[in-house]
Amino acid sequence: MSLLEIDNLRVTFSTPDGDVNAVNGMSYALDPGETLAIVGESGSGKSQGAFAMMGLLARNGRATGSIKFDGKELIGLSADAMNKVRSAKMAMIFQDPMTSLNPYIRISDQMAEVLTLHKGMSKKDAISESVRMLDAVRIPDAGRRIRSFPHEFSGGMRQRIMIAMSLLCQPRLLIADEPTTALDVTVQAQIMDVLSDIRREFGTAIILITHDLGVVAGFCDRTLVMYGGQIMEDGPTDDVFASPSHPYTKGLLQAVPRLDRIETELKTIAGEPPDMSRLPAGCPFSPRCAQVQNICASLRPELVAHGDARRRACHVPVAEVV
Ligand SMILES: Nc1ncnc2c1ncn2[C@@H]1O[C@H](COP(=O)(O)OP(=O)(O)OP(=O)(O)O)[C@@H](O)[C@H]1O
Ligand SMILES: [Mg+2]
Repeated sequence: MSLLEIDNLRVTFSTPDGDVNAVNGMSYALDPGETLAIVGESGSGKSQGAFAMMGLLARNGRATGSIKFDGKELIGLSADAMNKVRSAKMAMIFQDPMTSLNPYIRISDQMAEVLTLHKGMSKKDAISESVRMLDAVRIPDAGRRIRSFPHEFSGGMRQRIMIAMSLLCQPRLLIADEPTTALDVTVQAQIMDVLSDIRREFGTAIILITHDLGVVAGFCDRTLVMYGGQIMEDGPTDDVFASPSHPYTKGLLQAVPRLDRIETELKTIAGEPPDMSRLPAGCPFSPRCAQVQNICASLRPELVAHGDARRRACHVPVAEVV
């Protein structure tokens, strides 16, 4: 059975200017222990889709459709019931670890509290389990360093602490939302190594949300590309990278700076991201698509299977995507 099954997920925010359709009918499944990248430009609905899963939508937001985690429907659960599932089985880490760490409380107390509260552990056991997790994310001298305050660590070390903290209750799914964006390249690579270790050691399924395609290659089993709150395509990462089947994915891949090529200017896809409160009737990418056809503006392409374990939503035939 899939660990996560999402069917026709929609996230809508009510605003004084009308509804903002942040996620527009997303469907995908995730197996236990699988690693999925969700990529796409800023504003494409990556984070709100994850927040809906975690019950973390802003007050003006609502989610419809179905999110089944371990067979249990999460949409429509009370805040209390959602909290139980979340703290026991799912965890999320963010770009800036300081949003989740309390600057005035020692790491030892913040970590131990999670375990005394959710697992009923004694303080002493909670501390030794916390040290074990800090070791797992390779914090040097964890037994001593655990008594420090968050500001005594570098950004990369704080992100490791966040990862350690998120793992305390042994979640089956870890959602990492731009976990390395604020870090320099070397530290980014170290954090990705830590996530690889975690996956190997604990078998945790990981959803990695990022706009940095360089981070995805070599780490994620599958990649899902979003635009305008919809899935444009998905499939095994190597296949999506080697032969993108959607003009948007092609554009995204061309926008990745390559080390093997000297580029003075970073290529980006021409045009502006869509206004999520006024999406076109057809494909949201059609106004920017180099291969746009007449039908694209009026009819939204369905997400359909093609090739080996791949899906795409595009009116242009696969063989003609250039
Ligand atoms: N509380 C809110 N009220 C209204 N609109 C919102 C609210 N929160 C998010 N949105 C809108 O939802 C859309 C999707 O946002 P989301 O945060 O999922 O983007 P993202 O893909 O994660 O982008 P980024 O890469 O910048 O993090 C955006 O257009 C955003 O402006
Ligand atoms: Mg985001």
